[in-house]
Amino acid sequence: AEVKKIEFVKSSARAGDCPKDGRPEFAILGRSNVGKSSLINKLARKREFALTSKKPGKTRLINHFLVNNSWYIVDLPGYGFANASQSSRTDWSRFTKGYFLNRETLVGVLLLIDASIPPQQVDFDCANWLGRNNIGLTFVFTKCDKIKGKQPNDKIKHFQDLFSEYYRKSPPPWIMTSSVTGLGRDELLCHMSQLRNY
Ligand code: GTP
Ligand code: MG
Repeated sequence: AEVKKIEFVKSSARAGDCPKDGRPEFAILGRSNVGKSSLINKLARKREFALTSKKPGKTRLINHFLVNNSWYIVDLPGYGFANASQSSRTDWSRFTKGYFLNRETLVGVLLLIDASIPPQQVDFDCANWLGRNNIGLTFVFTKCDKIKGKQPNDKIKHFQDLFSEYYRKSPPPWIMTSSVTGLGRDELLCHMSQLRNY
């Protein structure tokens, strides 16, 4: 499940502009600043591959990265940045919902949750919306290097409990990651490989 080659393919402003070659893809979703672009950089083992920033809301387009010539990983705009206007939030949800509801090659969504702060209402809303629309979801906890105290697993279990009312059957898979230490990178690649072959 190793990344032998990863290349940027295109940025799309609308779901209809995304690549149409039918290759399977995974979408990376989460709040602004949660570490979406950093995670892609970590998968690529490149520091500045996907654009990262200290300013939330940097990634505004749907960015397709082709891995090993066979599947895509997709960097989506972050949701719920605090100082966004209502109209730009509405734009975000129309734009991204259009992508999720119409993208037939979507294998699964990696919902990134910042493990260094309490989960936010938008995270619950997002998990809930994906669940109701039967879109396959994996929780990817980011910034696990920043979890304070001795028991990161306990903290993540607590997060899982908080999310539990948002899915009906079994809980979605979840992976702890850090783009600083590389924690979870190989596990995530394995997980995506299993989902592709499912
Ligand atoms: P938008 O594109 O604005 O939605 O943000 P993003 O989700 O792509 O976040 P990005 O990868 O740009 O990271 C935001 C900030 O968090 C940057 O300053 C990163 O260096 C930092 N960061 C990302 N991942 C980690 C992590 O695993 N650990 C730590 N300590 N910092 C991280
Ligand atoms: Mg980004």
